[in-house]
Amino acid sequence: MILNTELEHKGNLVPARIVSYRKNVDSLFFTCANNVVLQLTVRRDSVLRFRYSTSGNFEPDFSYAISKYASRGYNQLDVVEEKETYKVTTKKLICHISKADLRVAIFDSADNSVLCEDELGFHWEESYQFGGDIVKMSKSSHDGESYYGLGDKPVDINLKGKRFENWVTDSYAYTKETDPIYKAIPFYIGLNHKKAYGIFFDNSFRTFFDFCRDRRNVTSFWAQGGEMNYYFIYGPEMSQVVSRYTDLTGKPHQLPPLWALGYHQCKWSYYPEKKVMEVANKFRQLSIPCDAIYLDIDYMDGFRCFTWNKEYFPDPKRMVSELTDIGFKTVAIIDPGIKIDSNNPIFKEGLEKGYFCKRADGPYMKGKVWPGECYFPDFTNPKVREWWAELYKELIEDIGIKGVWNDMNEPAVMDVPGKTFPDDVRHDYDGNACSHRKAHNIYGMQMARATYQGLKKYSYPQRPFVITRAAYSGTQRYTSTWTGDNVATWEHLTIANIQTQRLAMCGFSFVGSDIGGFAEQPTGELYARWIQLGAFHPFFRTHSSGDHGDQEPWSFGKSITKIVKKFIELRYQLLPYMYTAFWRYANEGIPMLKSLVLFDQNDVHTHYRNDEFVVGEKILVCPVTEPNARGRRMYFPYGDWYDYWTHELVEGGQELWVDADLDSMPVFVKAGAIIPKYPIQQFVGEKKIEQLKLDVYFNLGKDDSQLYEDSHDGYDYIKGRYSHRIFTLTGKQNSLTLQQVKTGKHFSSYETMEIKFIGLPFKITSVELNGEAYDHKSNKTNGSSIIFPTDFSDIVITGVPEQKNPS
Ligand code: GLC
Repeated sequence: MILNTELEHKGNLVPARIVSYRKNVDSLFFTCANNVVLQLTVRRDSVLRFRYSTSGNFEPDFSYAISKYASRGYNQLDVVEEKETYKVTTKKLICHISKADLRVAIFDSADNSVLCEDELGFHWEESYQFGGDIVKMSKSSHDGESYYGLGDKPVDINLKGKRFENWVTDSYAYTKETDPIYKAIPFYIGLNHKKAYGIFFDNSFRTFFDFCRDRRNVTSFWAQGGEMNYYFIYGPEMSQVVSRYTDLTGKPHQLPPLWALGYHQCKWSYYPEKKVMEVANKFRQLSIPCDAIYLDIDYMDGFRCFTWNKEYFPDPKRMVSELTDIGFKTVAIIDPGIKIDSNNPIFKEGLEKGYFCKRADGPYMKGKVWPGECYFPDFTNPKVREWWAELYKELIEDIGIKGVWNDMNEPAVMDVPGKTFPDDVRHDYDGNACSHRKAHNIYGMQMARATYQGLKKYSYPQRPFVITRAAYSGTQRYTSTWTGDNVATWEHLTIANIQTQRLAMCGFSFVGSDIGGFAEQPTGELYARWIQLGAFHPFFRTHSSGDHGDQEPWSFGKSITKIVKKFIELRYQLLPYMYTAFWRYANEGIPMLKSLVLFDQNDVHTHYRNDEFVVGEKILVCPVTEPNARGRRMYFPYGDWYDYWTHELVEGGQELWVDADLDSMPVFVKAGAIIPKYPIQQFVGEKKIEQLKLDVYFNLGKDDSQLYEDSHDGYDYIKGRYSHRIFTLTGKQNSLTLQQVKTGKHFSSYETMEIKFIGLPFKITSVELNGEAYDHKSNKTNGSSIIFPTDFSDIVITGVPEQKNPS
């Protein structure tokens, strides 16, 4: 007979005193008297992993987030037992583990300054409802400490004073502060006394983060199940934290085809075929560059994935080929829900093979999405992913679709509370069977991964292009992303700007927003301002829900069309610059968009700046986010900056007013930068690049710039067929030297470079090329640039200082 119905262990439980310690290669195990074990693994001198078990046994070590290519190895690992602590030292960090209660404090080994210390540290509550634990961690927060990261949160850049939840959620028309939305990226960066560190809580259950909201000096994070399993990633530079986190969770597996960095046009939906062709042709008629056109769900037969509505699209292969002829790549949407329909071979096959998700007690997971009632593939099963990849064969290989757009993969379910699967749905989780509580946040990621595998196989020898809405940490390895169903408001323009910066600092640089807003209709002014911002985002696409009028570059009258065209053209000129930034991201994990704090964390003025950001390494932009503005105030980080439009020089470290009528936007180039440009093309590959333009922005002293190129598609670059140029500019009062070092086996299509010198403090008198006099006068263009052979190694320009008018 049971009389006592009270829980025995209520509330928080904590580790007891450490009773034993053992070391196994790079992992240290600290066991407490109550069976709590801390496994501390040294992955790199600057990356430590902390994993806690409350029962003495760890779960099988499995993560969808961690890349198999992540760097490992350290230069030093010493463990010293002291009276009250164990002291673990690497080349970069010192970590104290308290014997009394397992609390951890981490210090910079260079100067012993404290970086991050446990408050209560690890603690937990038993989860009576589901089994296992609700695992928790709390850290002391220091005065002046700031917090950044967490993926797509639509809030100001600095997260201090706020609490967040990570649970991937379909969030139509979300607003500023809506939480959670589409992505779960449980990674944040702390900036404490000019030193930055990151914490990646690799737990796919519903997680929470509190940055000094509950208690002023405490930052905490917890999960509704699984293990307390987090990585501490040291900088001290924020950019190092980001690139180390990106290394850990993976860089994009390959570069995108260059066309994917061009402009994309989308709408829900362009149909029938005539409409699609009309839109595509209009771009060409108006000479507005565009590389991709999208087919939203109406291309399908009753929204059944992998089918075509033959009334609207009688011959998709022909249409796609006609689009290809005028330079358009066709991207098609594919959602996860498979309509319950025994005449649908995909449904039948999925059913026969047992590939659909089931409820805990056996029935299939049935949910309503666009096609009506559906079953959903369990993308956490590797066999299902293989099957899904194969389903793309016809679409890609036969019909010629060049990119796939995965949507509704939170997974979104209509007409149910919670908008998704119930908790009890079962998943394979790559052999670690579990409920939806654990698999929810990674479901969309695994769908995009399967799609990526299909595209990679069937697009070969071309590169795959995938876009996903839902994501967990690591999804950037496979796909690009966008910020979901936003709204055509000025506030959303601001939100899009912050979200893209935030995703970029969370390892996910290939990101953009629905330009102009998905829901509702923008004014021409808002659309123009949004295109201006989008031109600097890695993923550059207009998309709208289509039920409120048109949203094409020409939909808002002639004057707006002109502005939109100007900025899309600017993007096409900057393609080599953007591609180089992508290469650095894919190669070194360097984010393509840098919030000001990431660009210069030492300047406290940057810690709360939302609007300004640096694209690549050298271009500073600040979108205009208010109506009727003829300019705005913006903050210039440290350094000297040239106005892109007027070439006026501005000194950094101050906030200034910048003029920006509707046909302009504040864009600045760092002094000393060398910006490569291509001629304007209507689509990537339209023209053979006969000449590269280099805009050289004078600076006193030495500065490096880079240019990466390859054949813009295919995999030859992996075999060394790329060209990487490092330009070094040395500026003096009366001379400028430009040196070039090129590596790689790719031959550029151009033989000459047109170099424009901006901001020279002297009048050119002589020019030398590779140590010999160069006739610059006869190689001068009308626009005062000078033509040089592409593979120059040194150019020296000398002159006499400009005379200042005697006052
Ligand atoms: C979702 C997507 C949106 C798409 C629509 C129809 O709302 O977020 O981009 O157009 O579904 O497929």
